[in-house]
Amino acid sequence: MTANDPSPNHLQLTRDGQLRHFLTLDGLSQALLTDILDTADSFIEVGERRIKKVPLLRGRTVVNLFFESSTRTRSTFELAAKRLSADVLNLDISTSATSKGESLSDTLLNLEAMASDMFVVRHSQSGAPHFIAESVTPGVAIINAGDGRHAHPTQAMLDMLTIRQHKGRFAGLKVAIVGDVLHSRVARSQIRALNVLGAEEVRVIAPGTLLPRDVEDLGCTVEYDMARGMKDLDVVIMLRLQKERMEGALLPSEREFYRQYGLNQDKLALANPGCIVMHPGPINRGVEIESAVADGPQSVILSQVTNGIAIRMAVMSMAMGGQMAERQQKQQKQQEEQA
Ligand code: CP
Repeated sequence: MTANDPSPNHLQLTRDGQLRHFLTLDGLSQALLTDILDTADSFIEVGERRIKKVPLLRGRTVVNLFFESSTRTRSTFELAAKRLSADVLNLDISTSATSKGESLSDTLLNLEAMASDMFVVRHSQSGAPHFIAESVTPGVAIINAGDGRHAHPTQAMLDMLTIRQHKGRFAGLKVAIVGDVLHSRVARSQIRALNVLGAEEVRVIAPGTLLPRDVEDLGCTVEYDMARGMKDLDVVIMLRLQKERMEGALLPSEREFYRQYGLNQDKLALANPGCIVMHPGPINRGVEIESAVADGPQSVILSQVTNGIAIRMAVMSMAMGGQMAERQQKQQKQQEEQA
């Protein structure tokens, strides 16, 4: 790993392989993803206490910087930071100086001048968190909360935690991701995580118009027919139609999409009996999923939300730990050079 390394790891890992930013799952090892899951597991108990706090980020300032709307991600990052005892600033972009034409770089410089320690960034532009991580003051951690169509790494990790809780393993699992894969940053991160963690098969089920070109290269098989695609599944992950990112007519109609690809009880019955149903949210009932399935006994959709807090506590505490370790190493090196 060098400064010229084309993978993002020269940015997101310290020299000894600790997390210091969390931008993407690309290039991260199975050992590191498992470490994140194990650390998150240890934080689940904190959420069950009467006083839901540990002091790991006491005195630290975390800024939630969401340039796109969010319910689950923003709220669970805020709760996670508060459970780690950090001070949290939620910048309301609609009333911030961004709406007066201030650039992203200038907004960042001003927030850095307030001695912030971590930025949690959601942006419509793929690569925005990566861009910020390249220029941010050393010691400040950047966490990607979803960028364009590129990645949503904490969502994928909370999904992996939920799968591990329910299935106990990844080896031998057949997992399908159904719907609008084309516009989905979540699907890209999930496919990556499932491959690294050793799932037997990751299958995408969608009409051709909702799949990226060369989708197999991401590490998945493709099925265009929902009934065939549901066979032998242990996990089915439904995606919403991201109409805000669609250019042109990619579907005959929502009703036709629901008829062919919407998950109802009949289609779910084609999967393995213990198949769990997941969805990153927000769900659109009657568009990609039937209410009886979303609220049914095989649904773990709300467990995913709960697990979001523990995963985000894990990622934030690990990134801050990596930044502190790096700072100590630099100070030690400077002292050695001066001696
Ligand atoms: N899953 C997800 O990213 O949801 P929000 O858009 O509500 O954050």
